[in-house]
Amino acid sequence: MTSSEIRKKFLNFFQEKEHKIVPSAPMVIKDDPTLMFTNAGMNQFKDYFLGNKVAEATRVTDTQKCLRVSGKHNDLEEVGHDTYHHTMFEMLGNWSFGDYFKKEAIEWSWELLTDIFKLPKERLYVTVFEGDKADGIPFDQEAYDFWKGHIDESRILKGDKNDNFWEMGDTGPCGPASEIHVDLRDEADIAKIPGKDLVNNDHPLVVEIWNLVFIQFNRKADGSLHALPAQHIDTGMGFERICMAIQNKKSNYDTDVFTPLLDELAKISGKKYGELSKIDIAFRVIVDHIRAISLSISDGQLPSNNKAGYVIRRILRRAVRYGYTFLDLKEPFLFKLVPILAKQFEEVFPELKAQQELVEKVIKEEETAFLRTLENGLKRLESIKAELSSSGNATISGAVAFELYDTYGFPLDLTALIAKENGLTVDEKGFEQAMNEQKNRSKSAAKMETGDWQIVNEGRDVEFVGYDEVKADAKILRYRSVKNKNKEQIQLVLDKTPFYAESGGQIGDTGILKVSNETIKVLDTKKENDLIVHFVDKIPAQLDAKVHAQIDNDRRRKIVYNHSATHLVHAALREVLGDHVQQKGSLVSDKLLRFDFSHFSKMTDEEILKVERRVNEKIRENIPQQEERNIPIEEAKAKGAMALFGEKYGDTVRMITFDPNYSVELCGGVHVPATGNIGQFKITTETSVAAGIRRIEAVTGEKAEEYHLDQEAILKQVNALLKSPKDLAQAVEQLMKEKNELQKSLEKEQSKQAGALKDELIKNAEKQNDISVIISEIALPNADALKKLSFELKNEVDSLFAVLACDVDGKPQISVVISENLVESKDLNAGKIIRDLAKNIQGGGGGQAFFATAGGKKLEGLPQVVLQAKTMAKEL
Ligand code: SER
Repeated sequence: MTSSEIRKKFLNFFQEKEHKIVPSAPMVIKDDPTLMFTNAGMNQFKDYFLGNKVAEATRVTDTQKCLRVSGKHNDLEEVGHDTYHHTMFEMLGNWSFGDYFKKEAIEWSWELLTDIFKLPKERLYVTVFEGDKADGIPFDQEAYDFWKGHIDESRILKGDKNDNFWEMGDTGPCGPASEIHVDLRDEADIAKIPGKDLVNNDHPLVVEIWNLVFIQFNRKADGSLHALPAQHIDTGMGFERICMAIQNKKSNYDTDVFTPLLDELAKISGKKYGELSKIDIAFRVIVDHIRAISLSISDGQLPSNNKAGYVIRRILRRAVRYGYTFLDLKEPFLFKLVPILAKQFEEVFPELKAQQELVEKVIKEEETAFLRTLENGLKRLESIKAELSSSGNATISGAVAFELYDTYGFPLDLTALIAKENGLTVDEKGFEQAMNEQKNRSKSAAKMETGDWQIVNEGRDVEFVGYDEVKADAKILRYRSVKNKNKEQIQLVLDKTPFYAESGGQIGDTGILKVSNETIKVLDTKKENDLIVHFVDKIPAQLDAKVHAQIDNDRRRKIVYNHSATHLVHAALREVLGDHVQQKGSLVSDKLLRFDFSHFSKMTDEEILKVERRVNEKIRENIPQQEERNIPIEEAKAKGAMALFGEKYGDTVRMITFDPNYSVELCGGVHVPATGNIGQFKITTETSVAAGIRRIEAVTGEKAEEYHLDQEAILKQVNALLKSPKDLAQAVEQLMKEKNELQKSLEKEQSKQAGALKDELIKNAEKQNDISVIISEIALPNADALKKLSFELKNEVDSLFAVLACDVDGKPQISVVISENLVESKDLNAGKIIRDLAKNIQGGGGGQAFFATAGGKKLEGLPQVVLQAKTMAKEL
């Protein structure tokens, strides 16, 4: 079976058991402060488990893009060094939301593995939870008994909390788990050590392939467990591992999931996979990481300097470093693997194929930039080497190794390798110490303590009324306190609210809550999965009193102008630039709108103007907003609405239309009743964000008016300065022309004067034996004139010793000129002489032996320069 057949078989198997096949959620998470990336199939269903939301279907199956590179589940360091961990992997899952439980989950997993996938039963082991005293949970007898019906008891093993109690993170839904492991070793090895001794022992060929989690608890922030209102099933099967088992391979990387990538990398690097351990690790790191990088970017997360973007950047750099060090790849290469991935994922994650060109461009640019940094790091290493050798030291200190790591992205092994080649060593302990110090620093910086929700009123569904209302009467459902870098913040959930929670680019509303006589300020509103969380300045004294919630309507009005204008400009960009324009990010605030989109070159002034014109035209048309709140996604797509990559959509969506032939978008945001409200639209900047991604910023309504008024004010000012000419542009042009002419004639005049000065200096030169001495205090308009005069003197006077103490437009400057023959015969050096002379004007300078200049601060020192120079000349 090919990997793609295996995936299909899994989904079909559960579809036949009445499961609904749903798409993978995006790998990059937007509305969950506790999680940056999807790390398990269950993330997208968290709210169903917690009872915050009712599932549309109670049985679901899917394959989920997961990334385990941060937080509780982090496999990054293992990746490449072993053969069965990955950064990005697919998790096949079947789910029951309050429907079937242990019996069916166990029965069906066994049926699929042994009947459909035909894995030999004698190679399988299962584990059940042994119980935990501290948590007060007993041995999972129930699961044990169900397994007994399928598998010999000698193959049912017990596992502790570590292996058999699954938790997503520090808090959240959790429960006892039952894992299925497979033994893929050769018969001879099995004869030596029985497989059950190797289960959960990090053996590369005795691995977990499926985890069945019986979700029944919620772990709170204080560590306590609480029974959930219903029992659920969450299973996760590692796709790459099941492929290894079914295809009878010894490594995930030997399956057809990875071999096409390894082959291509071998072609690119001219190296072979499967011969040398160090090289093999590099191969595995690279073919693993490129999957994580490509799928993140196609989900809308570009590499960047913070948060999720930084995680992606680090993964990318790790791949580049392995290629650079072990495969000798000194040019960008990762991006060349993208076409293979796009093809592989074409059916299951089509978003990659759809954005292939963009993904390649972004990766290539990021690689290029990092290779440059690496090279700078190598230069830095050169200078470190020089410093060490001059001080007779042969050890690169921990601090320096860490600087190379932190600033230039040099892993310790790379520094150590280069050190070794140069007969140096690295203080590795010192490096670890510096690393730990930084880790601690960032830990304490990121520390956020989230208290448990305190329930005031029961209720799970939060009603958002803000599409139609700016106020609402509500009650408080829950609140909690969050300590962020020692600042306390109160978060509060209402059963009904007009406050829009930041999402889809639109910022959160601010406003007030009146709770009996008290006025509470709402400073921001954010989403947490499906909850609308109000960030307020204090806990209301009377928590169970009626709440009157009211948003800052003036601020909201401006936000709404910008949001609707964003839709209009999106459509205009596609008209003017082409269909390849896709939204890549947006910010909609009360001050401006920012829109990032895919486009490969800078917009011309003409294109910008066209887009502005088109948007303003649509504003004047005063197109009424058409809103459809619950339209099936397929219908919306048929009507021309584009789904954005990296966004999670349900079966039904909200669709906003401004003229069905102009702008149709899937959107959760708030909009103007008709486009005329926006007033006007003006693009203020057009810049680049990353390879292939442009950014425009624009203003609307009164901000656009202000923008124009500001421009007009400048114009008026210039007009007044020029005494209101008939044609302002022409007047400025004329002014420039006149200025240039004046400049030219001034220069001519100055050069005439300089000529006269030169002649006079030559005439008055003092003869001292064969030497012509010119020492004089003069004045010139600029430094260039002094330089010019000095060279002319040198060319025209033989055996010259000249010192010019010059007033250059109020600043003292000296020049020393000595003919080459004197430099040699008298061993003179203008550079040295000038340093002495410059002291008189509190200045400094230098130059060559025959010519030097110096500037200074003390104009009154010039006569002193002349005196000292004359004394020097006498000594010649
Ligand atoms: N949530 C469990 C896991 O990630 C099963 O899907 O292993």
